[in-house]
Amino acid sequence: MSNRNKSNHDPKPYRSAAWFGKDDKDGFIHRSWMRNQGLPEDVFDGRPVIGICNTWSELTPCNAHFRTIAEYVKRGVWEAGGLPVEFPVTSTGESNMRPTAMLFRNLVSMDVEESIRANPIDGVVLLCGCDKTTPALIMGAASCDLPALVVSGGPMLNGKYRGRDIGSGTDVWRFSEDVKAGRMTLQEFRDAEACMSRSAGHCMVMGTASTMASMVEALGLGLPQNAAIPAVDSRRYALAHQAGRRIVELVREDVKISQILTRAAFENAIRVNGAIGGSTNAVIHLLAMAGRVGVDLSLDDWDRLGRGVPTLVDLMPSGRYLMEDLYYAGGLPAVMRVLGENGLLNKDALTVNGRTMWENVKDAPNWNSEVIRSFDNPIVPEGGIAVLRGNLAPDGAVLKPSAASPHLLRHRGRAVVFESIEHYKERIVDPDLDVDADCVLVLKNCGPKGYPGMAEVGNMGLPPKLLKAGVTDMVRISDARMSGTAYGTVVLHVAPEAAVCGPLALVRDGDMIELDVPGRRLHLDVPEDELARRRAQWKPPVVPGADGGYVKLYVEHVQQADRGADFDFLVGRRGTTVTRESH
Ligand code: FES
Repeated sequence: MSNRNKSNHDPKPYRSAAWFGKDDKDGFIHRSWMRNQGLPEDVFDGRPVIGICNTWSELTPCNAHFRTIAEYVKRGVWEAGGLPVEFPVTSTGESNMRPTAMLFRNLVSMDVEESIRANPIDGVVLLCGCDKTTPALIMGAASCDLPALVVSGGPMLNGKYRGRDIGSGTDVWRFSEDVKAGRMTLQEFRDAEACMSRSAGHCMVMGTASTMASMVEALGLGLPQNAAIPAVDSRRYALAHQAGRRIVELVREDVKISQILTRAAFENAIRVNGAIGGSTNAVIHLLAMAGRVGVDLSLDDWDRLGRGVPTLVDLMPSGRYLMEDLYYAGGLPAVMRVLGENGLLNKDALTVNGRTMWENVKDAPNWNSEVIRSFDNPIVPEGGIAVLRGNLAPDGAVLKPSAASPHLLRHRGRAVVFESIEHYKERIVDPDLDVDADCVLVLKNCGPKGYPGMAEVGNMGLPPKLLKAGVTDMVRISDARMSGTAYGTVVLHVAPEAAVCGPLALVRDGDMIELDVPGRRLHLDVPEDELARRRAQWKPPVVPGADGGYVKLYVEHVQQADRGADFDFLVGRRGTTVTRESH
């Protein structure tokens, strides 16, 4: 190793020195080709090389401004004495990708992990925005276990339609039901499109993207205010600049992602999810992230830690406001301060700015107590995720009580069963469908293997004839996920799923189902011998597209929802060691 790696700032050689620090043929090759980008010789003096992992794509509109954000990160990296190198990974855009972006989360995580390991990267800034981009990038970086920091792209400005605020997704469901019920014309529906998405950024309700950006901040993996600064606010760019400076220091201090993503950090994130009324998708993503970094986190931790956590943030889909309002009210630090003052925060958890979580949030002001409520005046007293078990979900199912109708939280009803999403679409519009408001809609074969990818169809629309009659909610049960922008009394992530002959597969029209959210119970009221008879007759569904390619790999290796739907062979930390050199 040459003296290229012995500068005063950087006394020990970093990982990248194995590429750029040698005076032999390999060193020549690694440096020479990089210099075609106009890099002077002295940037290979042993300084930290910072990867900027970019999910920019014009097909992921939520992340379409990320090349600009990357430039601000680079400013900070240069300023702190690092060498920034931006690289692309597959981008998963929720609004366009079919059959569902979730099918590709694990694939992107592999892309991230292998891109980092294969290249001269000492630390990485992860640019995350649209739903799956956040967990995918964190999972990949966690498996490498190097210094890492997330910069989220920020939410869109509030949607504005006919004098009122409208929220991404949440109002689409409402508008669509209004059209079906004859309350909105198709032209009005079209007019609302441009009003909803009027700036760069991701969905600005507390959907999955905003939830995951909040999880990043709650985990200590992003700088304070990472979650809520609007994408187009100049302070978003200042945060990216600061992140660039800070990742260089994290490399110098050798603070790895596993030192941030501790059990204490995950516990903080679970409680914050309750306080913000966050998406049920966070359950799956955090379980998968914890699996990568080696933290033993389970579905039951979600239920236990979420109990007693009130929802403080009044954001759609549970409440009234939007992410822009949350930022102006004080952002996530103001929310976490309330949790800390009420014994619901692991205060000593380390964050990427080098301070503890409590040091970051203890003095955070709340400028609007309508948007961020006090502990004594919450939106919902119990904001956590309810984990249900019973003979219909032996390995668990989840429900978000804050998005559900209180009168349905204890309910017994007759099952109306849909064998697949296609069967649902065909049958739900049938005017002769034998269904009333007390029925329980059951959707099968939309889980990780059955769909495949576990589609966001769990909040299936109600039968049009009931909508027209003024019914606004019914109990719905499936092995699917639900968009974080959706609402209703919806039981999700039933495990094991129907496609592997979980009990959900055995439900038939007319069976009675009991939901007891306070008792955490989901029961199929059918005798065990009858279930055994049905099980013996069960035939696995034909899974479309699973006979080859990536989908085959996915179906063969994806785990159930209670394990975060990660691939079995991707769980754990594999580090950054490269077994062989290239030349
Ligand atoms: Fe990208 Fe909602 S579609 S965050």
